Amino acid sequence: DLRHEIQKLEEQFSTDAAKLKQITDRFISELDKGLSVEGGSIPMNPTWVMSFPDGYETGTFLALDMGGTNLRVCQITLTDQKSEFDIIQSKYRMPEELKTGESDELWEYIADCLQQFVDSHHADKSTIEKLPLGFTFSYPATQHYIDEGVLQRWTKGFDIAGVEGENVVPMLEAALERRNVPIKLVALINDTTGTLIASAYTDTSMKIGCIFGTGCNAAYMENAGSIPKLAHMNLPPDTPMAINCEWGAFDNEHAVLPMTPYDILIDKDSPRPGQQAFEKMIAGLYLGEIFRLVVLDLHNKEHMFLNQDMSAFKKPYSMDSSFLSAIEEDPFENLQETYDLFNKMGINSTNPELELIRRLAELIGTRAARLSACGVAAISKKKGYKTCHVGADGSVFNKYPHFKARGAQALREILDWPEKTNPRQEDPIEILAAEDGSGVGAALIAALTLQRVQEGN
Ligand code: BG6
Ligand code: GLC
Repeated sequence: DLRHEIQKLEEQFSTDAAKLKQITDRFISELDKGLSVEGGSIPMNPTWVMSFPDGYETGTFLALDMGGTNLRVCQITLTDQKSEFDIIQSKYRMPEELKTGESDELWEYIADCLQQFVDSHHADKSTIEKLPLGFTFSYPATQHYIDEGVLQRWTKGFDIAGVEGENVVPMLEAALERRNVPIKLVALINDTTGTLIASAYTDTSMKIGCIFGTGCNAAYMENAGSIPKLAHMNLPPDTPMAINCEWGAFDNEHAVLPMTPYDILIDKDSPRPGQQAFEKMIAGLYLGEIFRLVVLDLHNKEHMFLNQDMSAFKKPYSMDSSFLSAIEEDPFENLQETYDLFNKMGINSTNPELELIRRLAELIGTRAARLSACGVAAISKKKGYKTCHVGADGSVFNKYPHFKARGAQALREILDWPEKTNPRQEDPIEILAAEDGSGVGAALIAALTLQRVQEGN
């Protein structure tokens, strides 16, 4: 009986308030561990972004945004109107085969995109000689300086040999030089740091930058005095230092997260088993895959889709999170749109099967939103933020139905806020959409870096 299967899934995917609190407590100590000299699972990478913008930064910058799914090239002009900017941009899809191909092919592709952009917007190359580039490289990187990034490990399904353990900046620069593209890389940043800085540019209560997209991660501003692993630098203790948490690696030791057999399978079959435990339960890259594995398992155990051709469900990662979004958004009582979706894949579904599918999508989406709230609660508690705004970007945050409301509800449960007396009242900590985080963030960070160099710091 499918009712029984639904119940089992509800138990496996549940995250009650007590569990979320337990995860949050562990998260706080893991954030601290990441800052310590010994280190822990969460990298807590210092980024050398050492101030918030004041809104009066100016200049024209290029930004190259290499996420997990798209590649964007932007030109951003920070105007002399406070917190205002102009942006032009081109978007390119990151070809799937590049993600597991050769290092050279990756850099050549990226350099080609940059060259195309520059050629189409700057007929006269002499005018761009001075255009500085902020490179948003959204993977964990060790930085001793803001213009280097030694890739710690690939995440988000990337697996390109010869890049891990290397500084990626000379790789990109060499490809640009081969094409004679006159660009100067000024800063390498993470998308979360970009989101943090861009959000704070227009709203000074923004204290945390998050990405809920193909991957999942956050950045916040720490004080140098609270970063034991930077003690050897002898920075004044109150020096601000943005930390790219790389919290996707939370609980790699599998101590608190309520992993299901499907999460274990995803990890085992990924290019990097044992890594990004938190991310693999939350991020857009994995939501559809969790769904696929559950449905296939129930089919194999002869609970659903008996005698149906399941070939559409056989290919790993063939279902992305927009598939789950569509199921959750089906407005019809009889789940007609979901029926049609499956029908297109050659599967005829009964009403009880449709009900299970809908509930499963809800469970996967809800768990993702609730677990991600633990990270936000942990940083807020660690920093003592009773009230603040959190800037968020990424396809899951912006497009996955109910993600924001479910996350907000979880924050309320974790932080024990009193019930609202008026529905329009703001929560003490709110996660809000960051407008165009990474592009503007990269430009601002490039501007702040050039300022710092000029001031001789
Ligand atoms: C974009 C940012 O809006 O969101 C990128 O510009 C970021 O820097 C991306 O990596 C994350 O979302 P997704 O869904 O593309 O992984
Ligand atoms: C992955 C990357 C991280 C990035 C996040 C969101 O977790 O390791 O650097 O910020 O995805 O794109």
